[in-house]
Amino acid sequence: MRRLLVTGGAGFIGSNFVRYWISCYPDDRVVNLDALTYAGNLENLREIETAPGYRFVHGDITDRDCVDRLFAEEAIDTVVNFAAESHVDRSILGPEAFIKTNIQGTFVLLEAARAAWQGEAQDRRFLHVSTDEVYGSLAPEAAAFTEQHRYAPNSPYSASKAASDHLVRAYHKTYGMPVLTTNCSNNYGPYQFPEKLIPLVILNALEGKPVPVYGDGMNIRDWLYVDDHCSGIDAVLADGRPGSVYNIGGNNEWHNIDIITLICERLDNLQPGQGSYQDLITYVKDRPGHDRRYAMDARRMQTELGWTPQHDFPEGLEETLKWYLDNLEWCDRVRTGEYRKYYATQYGEEAL
Ligand code: NAD
Ligand code: DAU
Repeated sequence: MRRLLVTGGAGFIGSNFVRYWISCYPDDRVVNLDALTYAGNLENLREIETAPGYRFVHGDITDRDCVDRLFAEEAIDTVVNFAAESHVDRSILGPEAFIKTNIQGTFVLLEAARAAWQGEAQDRRFLHVSTDEVYGSLAPEAAAFTEQHRYAPNSPYSASKAASDHLVRAYHKTYGMPVLTTNCSNNYGPYQFPEKLIPLVILNALEGKPVPVYGDGMNIRDWLYVDDHCSGIDAVLADGRPGSVYNIGGNNEWHNIDIITLICERLDNLQPGQGSYQDLITYVKDRPGHDRRYAMDARRMQTELGWTPQHDFPEGLEETLKWYLDNLEWCDRVRTGEYRKYYATQYGEEAL
């Protein structure tokens, strides 16, 4: 039986992970520490909130007393650190929160784990969830990122994640902490906050609003269904080598414009409107420092841990579209006044 501290478990990937873990390992203890920022939502966890081993704690990973208390009360042996400011565009508008949560917060968690575990690495694991963005941008024909790729982050978000990855690495080298780092590509699936590309396209299309494409729409991302990310983290916790890094990816690269067009086509089928949703596609000013391409070489996950993604993209996207169509009220509830303010700043008042 494991005793997990999951941070950021009320966000998109974190809430999918908490549901995944409780359904796979119902006897484990899962303590979910989340500050409930604009991106955190307890509604994402309704299905499991009364599960016997589950506890939610409303708190901040930068609060050392709170984190120490949880280690002591819960005898935590496993940390899975999802908590972060996660949206690149917000990091460009206001980087400070990213420095605080992503760097300072990870530092606090590492220090608390080091104090609680007192050098006893046996059966303890500190898994830090990171991103492919730390490696920077790839040329169209370049080989995918391996775990040895040089770090070259280009946004305040990716720089803050890179800094946290370096801290995690240093705690292994210096203190022998049993850390693991996963760097994953773009996730998609249910409960993703609608500021991110796929849900934004779905909702804007359904509402007849412009569907914004940054720059020329030819930037490339690798897309992975969120449950596959969860099973990847599970595999790394089970058999990953402490001190190691694992790239997790979907081997599924798409130009932004192609994925946006595909979503519009699928919506034309699922929820026909007047004309095609493709007519709403609108090219807008590019994101500053916009990385051209990410691609992950996830062979270490396959050869060392036997992990491969289980969801093929058309099927995963279809499930995701249906989830959003079935959960439009959830979408309305998470798009609060704060989100509308962000949206107006990012896309212009007239786009609201
Ligand atoms: P998200 O923005 O949906 O959720 C973040 C969660 O962290 C929210 O519940 C929020 O309330 C919580 N949080 C923020 N600051 C906090 C703090 N100081 N203390 C405690 N909780 C806090 O993010 P996501 O998309 O689910 O990403 C989760 C993690 O995965 C992040 O670390 C991100 O860098 C990483 N990641 C995301 C993707 C992706 O495609 N979304 C891909 C690779 C890696
Ligand atoms: O690669 C992993 C990363 O994926 C994670 O670390 C981040 O937390 C996550 O937010 C995501 O970052 P991206 O910047 O790739 O995701 P986003 O959904 O913001 O954008 C995907 C692509 O679509 C990107 O090239 C920018 C473009 N885009 C995005 C938005 C919101 C548009 O063209 N129009 C938009 O309105």
